[in-house]
Amino acid sequence: MSDNWWRDAVIYQVYPRSFADANGDGMGDLAGVRSRIGYLADLGVDALWLSPFYASPQHDAGYDVSDYRAIDPRFGTLDDFDAMLAEAHGAGIRIIVDLVPNHSSSEHEWFKAALASGPGSNERARYHFRDVDPARPEVPPNNWQSIFGGPAWTKTPDGKQWYLHLFDSSQPDLNWDNPEVHAEFESILRFWLDRGVDGFRIDVAHGMVKADGLPDTGGDGSIEMIGTTQAPFFDQDGVHEIYRRWRPVIEEYEGDRIFVAEAWTDSAERRALYLRPDELHQAFNFDLVLAPFAAADFRKAIDAEIANNAGVGAPCTWVLSNHDVQRHVTRYGDGELGLTRARGATQLLMALPGVVYVYQGEELGLGEVLDLPDEVREDPTFHRTGGEQIGRDGCRVPLPWKRDGLSLGFGEGGSWLPQPEDWSDKSVEAEDGEAGSTLEFYRTAIALRGENKATVLTWLEDPAEDTLAFDNGAVVNVTNFGDEPVSLAAFEGKEILLTSTDLQEGDLPAGSTIWFKR
Ligand code: GLC
Repeated sequence: MSDNWWRDAVIYQVYPRSFADANGDGMGDLAGVRSRIGYLADLGVDALWLSPFYASPQHDAGYDVSDYRAIDPRFGTLDDFDAMLAEAHGAGIRIIVDLVPNHSSSEHEWFKAALASGPGSNERARYHFRDVDPARPEVPPNNWQSIFGGPAWTKTPDGKQWYLHLFDSSQPDLNWDNPEVHAEFESILRFWLDRGVDGFRIDVAHGMVKADGLPDTGGDGSIEMIGTTQAPFFDQDGVHEIYRRWRPVIEEYEGDRIFVAEAWTDSAERRALYLRPDELHQAFNFDLVLAPFAAADFRKAIDAEIANNAGVGAPCTWVLSNHDVQRHVTRYGDGELGLTRARGATQLLMALPGVVYVYQGEELGLGEVLDLPDEVREDPTFHRTGGEQIGRDGCRVPLPWKRDGLSLGFGEGGSWLPQPEDWSDKSVEAEDGEAGSTLEFYRTAIALRGENKATVLTWLEDPAEDTLAFDNGAVVNVTNFGDEPVSLAAFEGKEILLTSTDLQEGDLPAGSTIWFKR
């Protein structure tokens, strides 16, 4: 039986190390997530996606997994996981876990065995090893650069071979030409499906298959993942074969479980290929993460997503922020301007047909923390580029739950990244029940979205330049992307459901969204 919950859900991303810390070690954990299920139920979300909590040396905040079937002791135990899952299910909230199939940690048993066995061994065949050329011992097998900076190849300790890592040197890429890798990941899927998870977010879902012969990329070999185009290691057609094998596995399980892809592609057309009926259910649309706050850019991204996903029968999947990108409050401008626009954009998203992902802390109006001291930064991007790229720590600062106290209620042992002082006023305690707060705004927007489900998207005549107006079958949404208030005279007589900012003498302020009952 399928209720298709995932076609119009609001899904909340929990970044476990920064959500809530129950054991007071300064890092969030699964018991912390469990303790806040009530908060998430009040917010009205349908499901959680949890970033990795598996056993890991944490060289990339857990995206370097050393045991895919174990919980890292920093985050708890399998019992804590089961208890958290049960609590969430009891509150009607589904749980999506993160699966990291492109690479393991260098601490994974397989990689340790590969290093211990020699070149040409079955153990090495699970990864991408290549001989060092004695004539050119310092020249790696090709020109690929790590997404985090520096070469994508590192030598084995004996200096005889190179191994490939698209990310940090502690994240060797698995070889998806090897049937053992397929079998292992199908078994990992079943392990978590048997435990009752409702789905998987697939990390670097466009990366597992590499072009035959590992050819050089054009240029100097450096490829950005965010906003990338196709590359010999990204968005290769062969990757779809993997998902055609996984789909029947998940279909064996009851309860309408899903896959959501992190697939950075250069077009909505290529993204939709991952969403064909025998592949994945959702793929994050990152176009609005990359788009400036401008009507034309939003409209273009929305039209492309709707047209392409309709072609394969998949829901649109809208995102403004996550743990890898600068928070949208900060992307959209300084201070009040950024927050106003962020609320305006969020309300627009909530009116679109499809699925909306919310990144923890968005609902409090948190901005990027830009002034973290270098010594506390953990992101490998920062370290591998010698600080040239500041990295992603600024969107990963632990949540403020209370106005006061050590770590603003995150936990009793401080917080692994320092929180800005003004987060006291952005804490859950400060915003809870406070009319006009961003938290109350999110609660209302999510509730109204549920009561007024979008079925279509019909563009209406825009009331002014740099605005977008559309009808979604239940509400009329008007967003003002410009710098001046916009008259709403064209909608006179319509019932107002929600505004992201108080109206200014009846006009819609710059950066704001309004919903009218249709
Ligand atoms: C994904 C994750 C990111 C991680 C990378 C390598 O992009 O979202 O946080 O660093 O993959 O696993």
